[in-house]
Amino acid sequence: MATDTAALPDDIRESIAIGDAKSRAGQPPIADDILTSKTRFFDRWAPTYDWLLPSVFYQAVHKRLLEYIQLSEQAHVLDIGCGTGRLLDRLAKRFPHLQGIGLDLSPEMLRQARRNNHYRPRLIFIQGVSHAMPFVENQFEAAFNTISFLHYPDPQRVLQEVHRVLQPGGRFYLVDYTLSEWRSGMQQRLFSPIRIRFYSRQTRERMGTEAGLRCAGHHHLLGPVLLTIFVKAQS
Ligand SMILES: C[S@@+](CC[C@H](N)C(=O)[O-])C[C@H]1O[C@@H](n2cnc3c(N)ncnc32)[C@H](O)[C@@H]1O
Repeated sequence: MATDTAALPDDIRESIAIGDAKSRAGQPPIADDILTSKTRFFDRWAPTYDWLLPSVFYQAVHKRLLEYIQLSEQAHVLDIGCGTGRLLDRLAKRFPHLQGIGLDLSPEMLRQARRNNHYRPRLIFIQGVSHAMPFVENQFEAAFNTISFLHYPDPQRVLQEVHRVLQPGGRFYLVDYTLSEWRSGMQQRLFSPIRIRFYSRQTRERMGTEAGLRCAGHHHLLGPVLLTIFVKAQS
């Protein structure tokens, strides 16, 4: 798996390597064909991602998200499904001592993120999957996930992983399209050819609770895009 860890302090680099082994132990594999087709899809999109209309929308979403973020000055944060790294870039600009890791499935998205990285070595970008993250426990003060959750074949496992890597009291900012409870239930029964799924407020809360994350509130950011803030208990 390609990483960008050379610039990291030794302790963080080692913890990533240990986490890599730990997070995979005892978990059933997710079908390769799903991950392969998602990777292909995002690899193709990557070169034009920042220049197409949806990205203009996503960047407006990032801007709104910043209004709800609570971080310490020296925060160490994770962006899961970071794409071209635009959210981390925005965070690094706003918080001059923040350190961040962007994790993504798609090598081409990561290529764009690394090429546009104005904050190396404070920001680094690593290839990996959200349901088996290559990090040790209790590592991050906050984790972000913008317009990526809809693509996950096993979202509950992703939430378990978020709980594992967050520090006690850490926050998870989940930003994605949402549906009403009724539509969300209907959708679970329908086949989606591109394998995407949207979750209602109630479903997000239930899934978070099952993973040990308390819901601290929902906020509409733009159109149907909903931010849900989760908190990991202090002990
Ligand atoms: C629509 S893009 C959003 C990118 C970025 N978060 C943003 O707000 O612009 C979705 C991203 O999620 C990544 N992704 C999808 N499934 C993933 C998975 N299972 N693990 C890690 N990343 C994944 C894709 O490669 C893609 O970069």
